[in-house]
Amino acid sequence: MVNNMTTYYEHTPVMLQECIEHLITDPNGTYIDATLGGGGHTLAILEKLGPQARVFGVDQDQQAIDAASQRIGEDPRCTILKGNFGYLSTLLPPPFRGQVAGILLDLGVSTHQLKEAKRGFSFQQEGPLDMRMGAYTGLTAYDVVNTYDYERLRDLIFHYGEERGSRKIAQSIIDARPIESTQELSTIISEQVPPKFRIKSLARVFQAIRIEVNQELEVLKQVLQQGLELLAPGGRMVVMSYHSLEDRLVKNFMKSGNFEGLIEKDFYGNPVCPLTPINRQVITPNDQEIDRNPASRSAKLRVAEKVGDPGS
Ligand SMILES: C[S@@+](CC[C@H](N)C(=O)[O-])C[C@H]1O[C@@H](n2cnc3c(N)ncnc32)[C@H](O)[C@@H]1O
Repeated sequence: MVNNMTTYYEHTPVMLQECIEHLITDPNGTYIDATLGGGGHTLAILEKLGPQARVFGVDQDQQAIDAASQRIGEDPRCTILKGNFGYLSTLLPPPFRGQVAGILLDLGVSTHQLKEAKRGFSFQQEGPLDMRMGAYTGLTAYDVVNTYDYERLRDLIFHYGEERGSRKIAQSIIDARPIESTQELSTIISEQVPPKFRIKSLARVFQAIRIEVNQELEVLKQVLQQGLELLAPGGRMVVMSYHSLEDRLVKNFMKSGNFEGLIEKDFYGNPVCPLTPINRQVITPNDQEIDRNPASRSAKLRVAEKVGDPGS
């Protein structure tokens, strides 16, 4: 249960209709929402399913687990599991492996995580340099900011944050050590960028540190590979990402079954891929959704189906 002293900031589910429509192919099938968050998508999935269906909701964040459990309440079809989706195949009870009709991934952080100052995700609020989504990794934002050498810091700000001022920012972080709080870090970054780019640069650098702390690209690769094993033939993978590096991994994996996007061919030259993408074009939120929920603006939804005969 949620501690009464804690407010859970509700997360508005992104592209809810689009996710549900693409995910559910069998009203009595087994589904996994691997990013349970506040439970918005899970509730909508449950509403569309029949009495024989099963839904597993996974999150590594205890606050998300508590809030979603309270919101969903008693539903014998739904099981909530705490853990990192990088270990999805071990979290799911063995009888369901290879039997799953659909897996949903809504990557990144929830509104709650961003708004809860003491989690340290926000550059707009004073908080500790933490940014851990779950209790599974020892690494914190403090460790990254205060112990990484110049090259490592510069590269992660450049690659994970896609921030052009990565050199100046990395050097200014090193010069200012030790840095204790999110606001100290925000001030140091702000001094390195022109005022009109400040908010974007802050968002990019904080995102880069968060991706590093939570090893987000590594666990994404793991969950895509394991998700494929868990799906039944004809089962669907529905993935929403908010960052071009994540989207590239998802796109390549759905197209080729590997992260480089290299399509293998059989003896006769026919392409061999364990998944078939369902949409040619990536799906993005419409203007009304972006107006209603600006946090949805960078979302990219991709869907693929596991090849094979669903009857096999
Ligand atoms: C964008 S939110 C999901 C919001 C949810 N779809 C809803 O409608 O409320 C992402 C959630 O995924 C969780 N998450 C991110 N990475 C994870 C991982 N590797 N393992 C388990 N949960 C993860 C976060 O803790 C967060 O609660």
